[in-house]
Amino acid sequence: MLKFIILSDLHLVPEGKLSHGLDTAERFELAISFVNQHHSDAAFVIINGDLADHGEPAAYERMKAMLPKLTADTYLTLGNHDNRDNFITVMGKDHVAETGCADHVIDQGDQRIIVLDTKEPEAGGAGRLSEAQLAFLSAALEGAGEKPVLIVLHHNITFLGVPTDCIILENRDAFIDIVKRHDNVRQVISGHVHMSTSGNYRGVPFCTIAGGHYNIEPTLGAPDITFQTPVPRREGPGQLAVVLSDKTSTVVHMENYIDRHLVMAPALFDMHRS
Ligand SMILES: [Fe+2]
Repeated sequence: MLKFIILSDLHLVPEGKLSHGLDTAERFELAISFVNQHHSDAAFVIINGDLADHGEPAAYERMKAMLPKLTADTYLTLGNHDNRDNFITVMGKDHVAETGCADHVIDQGDQRIIVLDTKEPEAGGAGRLSEAQLAFLSAALEGAGEKPVLIVLHHNITFLGVPTDCIILENRDAFIDIVKRHDNVRQVISGHVHMSTSGNYRGVPFCTIAGGHYNIEPTLGAPDITFQTPVPRREGPGQLAVVLSDKTSTVVHMENYIDRHLVMAPALFDMHRS
């Protein structure tokens, strides 16, 4: 049985700063302790984008200093809040593939995990995979042969009926067209939306995890939902995914590692504050 952990949406900030009133470095510290204490048997940890809140070099420096505390091997990829150039400058080119992005193929036991970097600076918060990344995905799926495959990427691959539907993976159909040439893709796991969901898009099962920043109560049922539609409630759980996978089954557990009772004041989301 393969076991690995996915953390997402750290939103780290430079020393002395907060993100919407949250000390995201302290929250990452709690995630590290939790994983080391409760999941020391995990084969590796993937951190699935939005590593930094505003892509600042000082935020990546902070992450670089904290990462060695995680006892498991770590794979990093990027989300819309990241800055690829700053990430590479601080973390080094070892974190990027021949695509120029933080893409990875992880072979562990009899399984293959493909990690894709969906940061697209021109997409205004949405995600996109380049032609080179689609070719990388295609080759990685070909190379998997009969192995079960899981795909991890920051942006969600379809609409969830929530205000962030305008910033999903833009070229999701090109992605799915490649995935559907194979019958061994078990699950697509995203972060980005700060909520836990599961579903199916064009026959491909997906889920999203809430991640480490804050957890959003979904805005459902309101007519004409837009990006400006108010979020009913944000609360404090930090959430990770524990993935258990073997020859015949794959399970994604959503596990909260920070107290769930912190409810964040709406004033913390005044857009003039950081
Ligand atoms: Fe995020």
